[in-house]
Amino acid sequence: MILEGKLKKYKILITGGAGFIGSHVVRRLVNNYDNYSIYNLDALTYAGNLENLKDIEERPNYTFLHGNINDETFINSIFDKFMFDSVIHLAAESHVDRSITDPLVFVKTNILGTINLLNAFKSLWFDNWDGKKFYHISTDEVYGSLDDLDLFLETNPYKPNSPYSASKASSDHFVRAYGETYKMPYLISNCSNNYGPCQFPEKLIPLFINNIIDDKELPLYGDGNNIRDWLYVIDHAIAIDLIFHKGENHNTYNIGGFNEWKNIDLIKLLCNLMDDKLGRAIGNSQKLITYVKDRPGHDRRYAIDASKLKTKLGWTPSVTFKEGLSKTIDWYLSNQKWLANINSGEYMSYYKNQYSEL
Ligand code: NAD
Ligand code: DAU
Repeated sequence: MILEGKLKKYKILITGGAGFIGSHVVRRLVNNYDNYSIYNLDALTYAGNLENLKDIEERPNYTFLHGNINDETFINSIFDKFMFDSVIHLAAESHVDRSITDPLVFVKTNILGTINLLNAFKSLWFDNWDGKKFYHISTDEVYGSLDDLDLFLETNPYKPNSPYSASKASSDHFVRAYGETYKMPYLISNCSNNYGPCQFPEKLIPLFINNIIDDKELPLYGDGNNIRDWLYVIDHAIAIDLIFHKGENHNTYNIGGFNEWKNIDLIKLLCNLMDDKLGRAIGNSQKLITYVKDRPGHDRRYAIDASKLKTKLGWTPSVTFKEGLSKTIDWYLSNQKWLANINSGEYMSYYKNQYSEL
């Protein structure tokens, strides 16, 4: 273990820390490691929200940096100024549907933005990588779509099917290539679908929670039989903490929930939990399910084999799906102002465009 307790002011740059997963990672590291200075760099796109970090924003080991990873000059200037010892890179365009409408913005942020970070990190430490690492947060979508019986292993070939997953796959390759070419110590983790507090309501679970609250249609793509492997976001943050501290450099770790659900079954469970919490008759919200045209290139199934992480680092998910879903619904029901702020912004025009048939 190279980091804990050794250096008083070990500086970690976390990118995308105002987003969904990033905010949980920032909170965890700020709360658990007084000996680190945590810098959160975020452009505050539609998906970034400083409300997510209200509880830790005054902490002495936390600094927010407002800026864009696509801006090479800005990125070089902050690396020169703060000399970050390590990077945990989450900033990305993350929504598959938006990548279908506008692939270029995904190329800019997910590929070029990542390269700007890699170059700035390399310029700083190329002569001596001791104690440094670049940890890149990626997705299981880089492996493509699964047949019925397989699971995604770290050794699977990449076969991305959407502009989003192609851009993430490309950034993974660049990180690994910098590891080979410049001996940069790196880690990559590829995680399955996350859910939990603070997720932007364009993704399946928070979108449907938002719509059930408002008694609006629940737009289910295609036949509703696509399968995803769901993980509670705090369990992802715990895994990232563990991999950052104990993972072996130049390695990839798959992270997953051991928790596969067909979309239609998940949605029925969500509807019933919501009906119960809202005091509505059970079955009420299921009537809102509306089949809509399928997502182009819609991957049929994702499912992670996370046994490397389990056996080598001892990680397993800490909550069951039902517990995680229940906590998630409770969070959205008690944070309606957070939702209302989003519902009143750019989100509405996105929604109208994406779901024009409703
Ligand atoms: P998100 O969309 O909620 O947050 C992304 C954050 O990055 C936002 O705060 C946004 O403002 C910031 N950002 C976007 N473009 C930027 C730029 N050019 N410069 C600086 N900041 C920028 O995403 P998320 O769901 O929290 O995902 C975080 C990371 O985890 C992504 O890299 C994503 O690919 C990966 N991932 C997500 C999931 C999931 O289920 N959500 C699963 C596996 C991996
Ligand atoms: O697997 C990890 C990935 O999970 C992450 O890398 C992505 O950042 C994240 O967005 C997520 O991608 P998905 O495309 O799987 O998530 P999404 O919530 O968009 O969709 C989940 C499933 O629900 C998928 O099969 C499509 C379906 N869906 C989604 C929406 C938004 C619907 O049926 N209707 C919808 O309106």
